[in-house]
Amino acid sequence: MNEQIVILDFGSQFTQVIARRIRECNVYSTILPYNVSTEEILRLNPKGIILSGGPSSVYSPQAPLPDPGIFKLTIPLLGICYGVQLLAHFLGGKVEPGQKREYGKGTLQVQDSTCPLFANLPTELQVWNSHADKLTKIPKGFSAVGISENSIYAAIENRSKHFYGLQFHPEVVHTPRGKEIISNFVHGVCGCGKDWNMLNYIDQAVDEIRRQVGSEKIILGLSGGVDSSVAAALIHKAVGDQLTCIFVNNGLLRSREADVVREVFGKHFKIKLQYEDASKLFLTRLKKITDPERKRKIIGKTFIEVFQSATKKAGKAKFLAQGTLYPDVIESIPIGGNPAAMIKSHHNVGGLPKNMKFQLVEPLKCLFKDEVRQLGIDLGLPNEIVHRQPFPGPGLAVRILGEVTPTRCQILRNADAIVVEEMKSTGWYYKVWQSFAVLLPVKSVGVMGDERTYEYTIAIRAVESQDGMTADWVKLPYEILEKLSSRIINEVKGVNRVCLDISSKPPATIEWE
Ligand code: XMP
Repeated sequence: MNEQIVILDFGSQFTQVIARRIRECNVYSTILPYNVSTEEILRLNPKGIILSGGPSSVYSPQAPLPDPGIFKLTIPLLGICYGVQLLAHFLGGKVEPGQKREYGKGTLQVQDSTCPLFANLPTELQVWNSHADKLTKIPKGFSAVGISENSIYAAIENRSKHFYGLQFHPEVVHTPRGKEIISNFVHGVCGCGKDWNMLNYIDQAVDEIRRQVGSEKIILGLSGGVDSSVAAALIHKAVGDQLTCIFVNNGLLRSREADVVREVFGKHFKIKLQYEDASKLFLTRLKKITDPERKRKIIGKTFIEVFQSATKKAGKAKFLAQGTLYPDVIESIPIGGNPAAMIKSHHNVGGLPKNMKFQLVEPLKCLFKDEVRQLGIDLGLPNEIVHRQPFPGPGLAVRILGEVTPTRCQILRNADAIVVEEMKSTGWYYKVWQSFAVLLPVKSVGVMGDERTYEYTIAIRAVESQDGMTADWVKLPYEILEKLSSRIINEVKGVNRVCLDISSKPPATIEWE
């Protein structure tokens, strides 16, 4: 088992960021709900515990509180923001509402540079704050090791007990040296080595998959996206031909998408690939359908039907593999109405029907997206797949407004291929969350040569986002927009006008549907 740090989640929007920062230090981290018992924590044998921030006040009657037993353990502990207030609250200090909310950039003056958290760091650090309450008295045995503009207890320690507290957020990028503070905690204070990396993980995961699957067959629905592709490569490494990947062409794919999957997985990796071309069925069922919700339902239902009959064709399998990631499985208890803790993406819920009696294999279940990409690189997957932008399951159907017809699909596919090509050649493809073309059902007048035209409109959508829940439109350079417009209008038959979508989410969504 890897050495690990346990993070108790008190509802901060940054809890997952803490976990990622620790893993970037090559130390494994696990997020647990704030109220797990001390026994449960001990079962994981952590080298350290971090109490996350959170939106509550320790003195509120609904305040989320940890099992007090954790303060009696001899395991190093770091409280961040709300976490340091908990330390004070439980160990005899005092927390009071601050005069004003401290929010944004601040400066930390390190008072005691022998504090292990600040090893090899300057005595003045830029930090990022987000708190209203503050410590007014520190518990016995603690001393102040850092002050900020607003607090004489911005960093505290009880060095002999290995308990530390920070009022600011070391995990966010706005605390530029914060990762070093976290590294000092996990390596310097907790004594963790650096045993967490994707090359080690491959060996562990291969063993684990072999143990779980034995000599049974396993099926995986390959979409060509990052997660299912990395899962396929990893499982194939573990059990070879026991794995069959099913790739469904729903007729709503982008240019060359099916070819790339067949080349990479079929030819290069020599994975058993069952290619199901169901494009006619999907497009027939979508005929005359214009309502976005109905389109989605039809596509979802048809996919399940096609996938189900494909699994029968693949032969009797006991296991079904899925590319589930860590953020999908973290158990979080909504706290104080913090929306970040409660909203789950509405798109990926549902999945396959219960009557498909498979046991699940989910080898990416403890990984974050950046780790999955690194794993993909270490497994030898091409950049084209590892750094692919997200693409929705219902495919081009959510980017063709109005009826989805084969002609409209082809127009959009051609326009989209130009967007992808230009974004890649200028390097912008890898800097943004998504960039694509949308086909509007609007025809307008134009002139081409001496002739009057009456053709469709393409909208260009490019957004920046962390997780798809919110997004900002990207200010692409005019030169790129100019090239996109002229190439699309000149090269794509059926289009005579190109627009740019300058809406952010919310209130707009990323896909137009
Ligand atoms: P919206 O359009 O709701 O999209 O702002 C947010 C993110 O989710 C993706 N998306 C989907 N992903 N199945 C998926 O796997 C879907 O049905 C689906 N619909 C939207 C969208 O591309 C964006 O990244």
